[in-house]
Amino acid sequence: MCGIVGYVGRNNGASLNSAVLEDVDSNGSHGALDVVMEGLRRLEYRGYDSAGVAVLTESGIQSRKKSGKLTNLIAELQEAPLPDSLTGIGHTRWATHGGPTDQNAHPHLADDGRLAMIHNGIIENFAELKAELLDAGATFISDTDTEVAAVLLGSIYRRLADADAGSGSGSEDTLTRAMQEASQRLEGAFTLLAIHQDAPDVVVASRRNSPLVVGLGEGENFLGSDVSGFIDFTRRAVELGQDQVVTITPDAVAITDFFGAPAEGKEFHVDWDAAAAEKGGYDSFMEKEINDQPDAVGQTLLGRTDAKGNLVLDELRIDESILRSVDKIVVLACGTSAYAGSVAKYAIEHWCRIPTEVELSHEFRYRDPIVNEKTLVVAISQSGETMDTLMAVRYAREQGAKVVAICNTNGSTIPRESDAVLYTHAGPEIAVASTKAFLAQITAAYLLGLYLAQLRGNKFRDEINAVLSDLNEMPAKIQQVLDNADAVKKLGRDMADAKSVLFLGRHVGFPVAMEGALKLKELAYIHAEGFAAGELKHGPIALIEEGQPVVVVLPSPRGRDSLHSKVVSNIQEIRARGAVTIVIAEEGDESVAAFSQHVIHVPQTSTLLAPLLTTVPLQIFALELASAKGYDVDQPRNLAKSVTVE
Ligand code: F6R
Repeated sequence: MCGIVGYVGRNNGASLNSAVLEDVDSNGSHGALDVVMEGLRRLEYRGYDSAGVAVLTESGIQSRKKSGKLTNLIAELQEAPLPDSLTGIGHTRWATHGGPTDQNAHPHLADDGRLAMIHNGIIENFAELKAELLDAGATFISDTDTEVAAVLLGSIYRRLADADAGSGSGSEDTLTRAMQEASQRLEGAFTLLAIHQDAPDVVVASRRNSPLVVGLGEGENFLGSDVSGFIDFTRRAVELGQDQVVTITPDAVAITDFFGAPAEGKEFHVDWDAAAAEKGGYDSFMEKEINDQPDAVGQTLLGRTDAKGNLVLDELRIDESILRSVDKIVVLACGTSAYAGSVAKYAIEHWCRIPTEVELSHEFRYRDPIVNEKTLVVAISQSGETMDTLMAVRYAREQGAKVVAICNTNGSTIPRESDAVLYTHAGPEIAVASTKAFLAQITAAYLLGLYLAQLRGNKFRDEINAVLSDLNEMPAKIQQVLDNADAVKKLGRDMADAKSVLFLGRHVGFPVAMEGALKLKELAYIHAEGFAAGELKHGPIALIEEGQPVVVVLPSPRGRDSLHSKVVSNIQEIRARGAVTIVIAEEGDESVAAFSQHVIHVPQTSTLLAPLLTTVPLQIFALELASAKGYDVDQPRNLAKSVTVE
């Protein structure tokens, strides 16, 4: 939540800010505003309640900020351009304290306009700090916790600068020390970036429980909430640790803890292609990302088996004897990632015979759960920054559990704080509603389940081989679903006026139904609920009335335990009560053709792998329905990607 960018560069003689509102040239002719605006464009998915920038100019700090989406800030910059600059910060906001107004937009100024600050997170002790600062004579013009941090930093800076006067200590050092001291006083989660007019070539930042990465350039350095903040300019990035302050100048990056002790960051190479974070000719990122799914699954499978077909998960770095002794698996995640975990539970329990629980991270963390050294926690997070999941991971590790993260974002916090990580290689997911990450997470969780089964003995060998071979066919089958999506697209458009849509599924189809409902809620703002089909008769069937649309994920008739016939009976029950049924069935299954209004076919596969196919029409349905209503599918209202507050 909230996107943050910082930049400091050296003047290379190029004309600056020439391309602020167009494409930037990463080969040198860029100034601070170019970099910051490009970074904000890429980070806008993290929040779009307001946007703002501040740059250091010869006449001091100048800032522009505007409520609403980044386009409003761009219009403001067209009307009131900012002068050239080599030092700047920028912010896109997901509002927490204080409504989404111009006044509450970041940056916030302090020290009589000489200091500008941006912030991601929540400062929990802001009220007591504000009271203390008010007592000392400070004034505030916004309702935000950020302004409190800015004023606090400004007052500490002023005290240190006055004490330093004549001591020879530079303003850069003073600003860094002020940030260290301010950070010690703050509670909660924060990434703070500040610039001060006394220190023209410096951006100082601080982080606790909120994301921040450094980008390393030649004669320039960058800061971003994630690497997309500077992906157009450099591929060299540095992960920061917890409770660290970083000071960037054009030629140096210095990291310390909150008390000034030097610290090291961990450099990594960004292998995301900048073009992968562009729409690539599609109308929306969401449409592109749905279409990326064959690749997302293919890339996640790539290189994870050896020549003999054995699974090789080198990155698992947890002793095999520990993995063999695991007697319980707990999957922790939120939202779509939790539904991926719920799908994986069916597979992992079946393959490994290890009891597997799936729990929402925020519920797990605060209920005194039973976790110990024999528990393997699997933390699933696309962003790797979800605060609820991070807190749950920390808690589980404190109880002695080993944690494997399944994550899509290199350099993010959850993998860093886990014992091991299995990366999904879905590429950057920009649309706020998750799509390709979901399929990649299921794939990675399946690989983990198969690997644990492999470790537990050869009796599973044949089944593992068969599943791996089926998994390898999935990219092509997902492509078939995408190629044959006209009917579901039309259905989505035709149902644009629906007031409520229900989703039913059974077994692995149950979390798929929940995910289908979530996509529709998020994108189209209509009532949508997913139910276990077997639960219908225990209450939800009362919702069915004439014309109620119900999407049903039908299991394969070739599957076990007559799941298929039970769901077919459910379809008959709701049809008898007037429901309009839309059934996702496998190719060749005509069992419901006679009494279902719409049947969408997906290629045949095994029951456990079916979610990789049946989810796709539900994503397309939500996308089309929301688009027909004229909504912004990439940036649904009230949401933000990467939920970095609890
Ligand atoms: C829904 C969606 C969210 C995320 C959830 C967890 O479309 O995107 O429900 O799945 O906020 O996010 P990550 O996976 O980043 O931890």
